Amino acid sequence: MSTTEAEVDSLRAEALEALARAGNEAEQEAWRANWLGRKDGRLTLRLRGLKDAAPEQRAALGKSLNQLKTTLEYELEARRESARADALAALSADAALDVSLPGRPQSLGRLHPVTQTMNDCIDAFAEMGFRVFEGPEVEWSRYNFDAVRIPDDHPARDMWDTIWIDTLIEGERQLLLRTHTSPNQIRVMEQSEPPVRVIVPGKCYRQEATDATHEWMLTQIEGLAVDEGVRMSDLKGTLYAFAQEPAAPPEEWIPPKWGARAGEGGARMAALKAPLSPFARRIFGGDRQIIFHHSYFPFVEPGVEMAIDCFICRADGSDCRTCQGTGWIEILGAGMVHPEIIENAGYDSSKYTGFAFGVGIERVAMLRWGIEDIRHFYQNDLRFLRQF
Ligand code: FA5
Repeated sequence: MSTTEAEVDSLRAEALEALARAGNEAEQEAWRANWLGRKDGRLTLRLRGLKDAAPEQRAALGKSLNQLKTTLEYELEARRESARADALAALSADAALDVSLPGRPQSLGRLHPVTQTMNDCIDAFAEMGFRVFEGPEVEWSRYNFDAVRIPDDHPARDMWDTIWIDTLIEGERQLLLRTHTSPNQIRVMEQSEPPVRVIVPGKCYRQEATDATHEWMLTQIEGLAVDEGVRMSDLKGTLYAFAQEPAAPPEEWIPPKWGARAGEGGARMAALKAPLSPFARRIFGGDRQIIFHHSYFPFVEPGVEMAIDCFICRADGSDCRTCQGTGWIEILGAGMVHPEIIENAGYDSSKYTGFAFGVGIERVAMLRWGIEDIRHFYQNDLRFLRQF
């Protein structure tokens, strides 16, 4: 098909007019196919027909048709761009942004209930003059067992089913995940001279058949106090101060000066028995019952366990799942540090005595908040965790 210059002008006018009417993406695509389509676009056909034009007109006409093609391609792109801008403008007018609306609150994390309880317990003991010490979770078996009088063949080793580290050292398993925080009694005494008043918080691991009060990962706070003349009554006084709401302290109450030796201006541990610090209210209220009963731990003599009355059954004799019907939930083991351990640390056991305790922090948290099953703590259920 041959074309004249006049026809090129009229094609341009017609094409641009049609493009102006192509308001959406589909209409623009139809326009492109009609004018510029590679097979039978109207302009494409004109370009293809150039070969039929008179030779003297062919160059000028070819130039005009190619310019028209460039113009149409450019105008199509401009039209598409302006249609996109119109669509965006319409969208933001419909879903207009109201900057006066309150923002979406970011959900903030919080400390895990066991961490909260551990911090409160640390504060309570710190106020009584205990310093915080930390020990390793991957522990040598000689610290975890031997140094606390649990030798290889001692039946007491059966008390904790241990998670061992596979690495053999000199052909033996010597490393484990600590089963309790008590190895730190030894670590602390190796590194310091009496008087000693430390707490050691941290995770422990046991191969446990889990139930309402037993997890395979647990948190303990070990306490150790060694000085001249430390007695069982000091241990009891300290644990009462920690656990139970005391009588209101007198106004002139002054915290005992732990860390200073008797005779050097510091109060002795017995000063804890009365008056007691007001912080203890943080752990349990004064309406809770506390019981001590005898227990055996190879590293103390005598040994005791302390238990709090069960918040679920209140010892009503029912078959309570949480306390196994005993009416009590044990929270800690304790006792007077065995003289052999005092001697092994290089202290003179005829001069120095001490007490130690190991509190189970998950149990304390259960009792504080009335949580009937310890396993809730580590199931990562936000419906549970958000309550604390
Ligand atoms: C001990 O671990 C001793 N090392 C405590 C001790 C320290 C005694 C110093 C004397 C002197 P026991 O295994 O009873 O003892 O654990 C102490 C506390 O840890 C328990 O009272 C309990 O509160 C907590 N506990 C023990 N096993 C678990 C467990 N599987 N899950 C949760 N808490 C536990």
